[in-house]
Amino acid sequence: MSLSNIMSIPSKILSELSKPFVSREEEAKVIVLALLTREHAVLIGEPGTAKSALIRRAAQILSMKCFTYLLTKYTEPSELFGPLDINALKQGKYVRITTNKLPEAEIVFLDEIFRANSAILNTLLTIMNERLFYDGYTEIRVKLWSLFGASNEVPEDPELEALYDRFLLRHLVKPVTDDRWRDLLKAAWSIEKEGYPRPGIIVDRDTLEKLHRAVFHVDLSPIESKLLKIFSVLESKNIHLTDRRKGKALKVIAAHALLNGRTTASTEDLIVLKYIAPHDVDDFEKVNIILSEELKTAYRYLRELDEIASSIREVDSYVSSFPTISSRFVEYRLIEIYRDLESTKERVLAMLNETNDDAVRKKVCEVVEMIEGVMDKIKRKIEG
Ligand SMILES: Nc1ncnc2c1ncn2[C@@H]1O[C@H](COP(=O)(O)OP(=O)(O)OP(=O)(O)O)[C@@H](O)[C@H]1O
Ligand SMILES: [Mg+2]
Repeated sequence: MSLSNIMSIPSKILSELSKPFVSREEEAKVIVLALLTREHAVLIGEPGTAKSALIRRAAQILSMKCFTYLLTKYTEPSELFGPLDINALKQGKYVRITTNKLPEAEIVFLDEIFRANSAILNTLLTIMNERLFYDGYTEIRVKLWSLFGASNEVPEDPELEALYDRFLLRHLVKPVTDDRWRDLLKAAWSIEKEGYPRPGIIVDRDTLEKLHRAVFHVDLSPIESKLLKIFSVLESKNIHLTDRRKGKALKVIAAHALLNGRTTASTEDLIVLKYIAPHDVDDFEKVNIILSEELKTAYRYLRELDEIASSIREVDSYVSSFPTISSRFVEYRLIEIYRDLESTKERVLAMLNETNDDAVRKKVCEVVEMIEGVMDKIKRKIEG
């Protein structure tokens, strides 16, 4: 499959994932970002908000080995990692039979994840972070791609902090708002009656690996300084990201660009920090507000530049359709367009004084280049 074909897959997964549900596009996005970055994600929210159903659907879309389990306080290591091999034990060896258990899985879903007790916690931590499983004295590299967790609440117990930190992506799932209750009835009725529609796309590991590699080819230079600035704003508002999360944020930003069909990151991709920065329940809303403030101005300029760029493209094809000077009227019309382009160029260049945003600066250069291209074309037509 070519790179351009591959590029359309993330958005296909996204739409297939959220299709049966109402208002679950953002949750689906979080899952896709986790898959593209080979990271772990946790959905936190009140019961019955389709958290489990969504993650199960993701597992259906992937033709990969899955392991799903509902944790309780009493879950034994053998339930997740496999029973001890009695025959081996008789020979003094301590090994587990991991067949069809978590160590063999590529996609793992642990429901009620924060009920994990200390007997399973350490093993889980190394599997998630190092992708290593210690079986007796042997170290086994696991094929885990992403682990998804669901929970009704954010963990409070400090013992769970390390586990919580391993979920690079965290999302608070909110119940469907009242304006969509009618749609909810319809969707839930259809699910009850006919079950979930069969996914229209199946993705294998090989494809995920290609997509994952593409993430590292995204050009992040336009957003770097803005990202650093947002880190300091968050810190000043008492929202602290661990160094692990700061470092890994780039991957998610790049994945977001890729999901939007771009190989260059832009300011809008920084929105993914809303899944990376929050820790406590209150943080989710706080981070949202900080980001909408921080990204607002750049957003506005980028939108305006996009509009200008598309009208320049129209002008370009209009100018191209003109014959070389054939009448005074044509000449007059071309001069008129030329003057308009001059003032548009001035407006675009003025943006450089109004914002320091790297993505905006880069876009300004692109648009100015486009404008100058059309101006040159007009000059050539006038000069014959
Ligand atoms: N937004 C939604 N759109 C369509 N159906 C929904 C939606 N929310 C809930 N449902 C229906 O409710 C069912 C319950 O969802 P699910 O069991 O996945 O919830 P949950 O968030 O995992 O709950 P819990 O926290 O109790 O485990 C779904 O299978 C689905 O049929
Ligand atoms: Mg559930």
